[in-house]
Amino acid sequence: MEYSVKSGNPEKQRTACVVVGIFEPRRLSQSAEQIDKASDGYLSNLLRRGDIEGKLGQSLLLYNVPGTLCDRILLVGCGRERELNQQKYATIIATATRALNEGGTMEAVFYLTDINIKGQDSPWKVSQLILTAEDTLYRFDQCKSEKDEFRRPLRKIIISIPSRRELSECEEAVKSAQAIANGVSTAKDLGNLPGNICTPTYLAEQALKLAEQHQSLNTNILEETDMEELGMGALLSVSRGSRQPAKLIVMEYKGADSDENPVVLVGKGLTFDAGGISIKPSAAMDEMKYDMCGGASVFGVIQACAELALPINVVGIVPSSENLPDGDANKPGDIVTSMSGQTIEILNTDAEGRLILCDALTYCERFEPVVAIDIATLTGACIVALGEHAQGLLSNHNPLTHELLNAGKQINDRAWELPLWDDYQSQLDSNFADMANIGGKGAGTITAACFLSRYTKKLKWAHLDIAGTAWKSGKEKGSTGRPVPMLMQFLINRTQ
Ligand code: BES
Ligand code: MN
Ligand code: ZN
Repeated sequence: MEYSVKSGNPEKQRTACVVVGIFEPRRLSQSAEQIDKASDGYLSNLLRRGDIEGKLGQSLLLYNVPGTLCDRILLVGCGRERELNQQKYATIIATATRALNEGGTMEAVFYLTDINIKGQDSPWKVSQLILTAEDTLYRFDQCKSEKDEFRRPLRKIIISIPSRRELSECEEAVKSAQAIANGVSTAKDLGNLPGNICTPTYLAEQALKLAEQHQSLNTNILEETDMEELGMGALLSVSRGSRQPAKLIVMEYKGADSDENPVVLVGKGLTFDAGGISIKPSAAMDEMKYDMCGGASVFGVIQACAELALPINVVGIVPSSENLPDGDANKPGDIVTSMSGQTIEILNTDAEGRLILCDALTYCERFEPVVAIDIATLTGACIVALGEHAQGLLSNHNPLTHELLNAGKQINDRAWELPLWDDYQSQLDSNFADMANIGGKGAGTITAACFLSRYTKKLKWAHLDIAGTAWKSGKEKGSTGRPVPMLMQFLINRTQ
């Protein structure tokens, strides 16, 4: 999709479609008002007749409206003006985008930045418009022999802004939002690919390809032999039960001076999690192909940074493996030694994410990160706690917590903090090793983070549990690309 910004009157646009908002109950937005004037009350007449109420999710396509130069006008319901918020703005954009794409309109000028969202300026609206439109139009059809293509798909969106003065900052917003949206799309693609295609080796190849496309990127793949030398006994114990060799993918993005310490992102890249010997129930097990979505988000972020030439250094590390039952797989009760030297009693082989992450986190110390953030579909308990709206956030550094929470609020990809209190640490006590890999009954998300915290003592570190947010189940099953937006906003904020 092509995006641009401009400012001008809606009735004067020579375009396939002009998009304006209608508030509930039957009230014109500012741009709709302008069209109404130019058309001698055409819109207010229509509203009076009750053709559109203005409810959120409604839309109505009009042809040949008098006094205008466009072929069509799309009225979009915005709900009650006083109740507008970030979420509803996204629904408005999604409704309009879908209606245009399915209705055969290839180009449109959106007049939806005149809608007031508390505390948000035009660049924010431009950015959200692009992120939401791209999210709405995303399809994963790589593996379908017949793709359901629209004959006249939406190709070009022109975003009208109220004032010329904001033109340059809104153009900046277009650039960054497009790069972020591309990163989201990459993360979605990797997530949606099935486990038999998206293996650790496949991910490693994609990382190498990405580096070929950008001068600012360097990729290094550590093989199992390298990991053995480093003493990554925890990570390697997980991959022992799989015929696919594990990979430790290291992507270095250099956007700033080389003496500037990097932000390090560590993403869980478990390409299929059957649970191992502690095998999972079969219902919805297919969704465990999404267990590499943390890693996929790191790919998305690194790509977006390179595309934007963001002036910051970022290292993306993706430990990648499968977790399968096998004669050589981890067994409950096995004790392994991590790269840090700490020993782990594996009481449940399905708590494998922390085993591959702990070694990757120890490894990341060598980059002397300013901060390290790991992203992982780590615990089903996080879905119980927060559902699908917020990712869980646990951290040993308060300022980092707030940076991430704020970034998430800014770009509407939010996290919620859970306590990383010492009180929970004793749940990991083991009679036979330095720690167990599970924390028993309560607080599964917290005890998982407690486990990781034992490997991040030297770091300013945050952990994002994206088990509930990385993909959708049911009819709309598919990867969301979260938390690429949040992480990008976090990095962008750090460059300002
Ligand atoms: N990848 C899963 C977590 C998961 C489960 C994410 C379902 C999203 C949906 C992780 O490896 C896992 O199996 N965790 C266990 C931990 C338990 C054994 C302590 C879990 O959450 O059940
Ligand atoms: Mn598991
Ligand atoms: Zn897992």
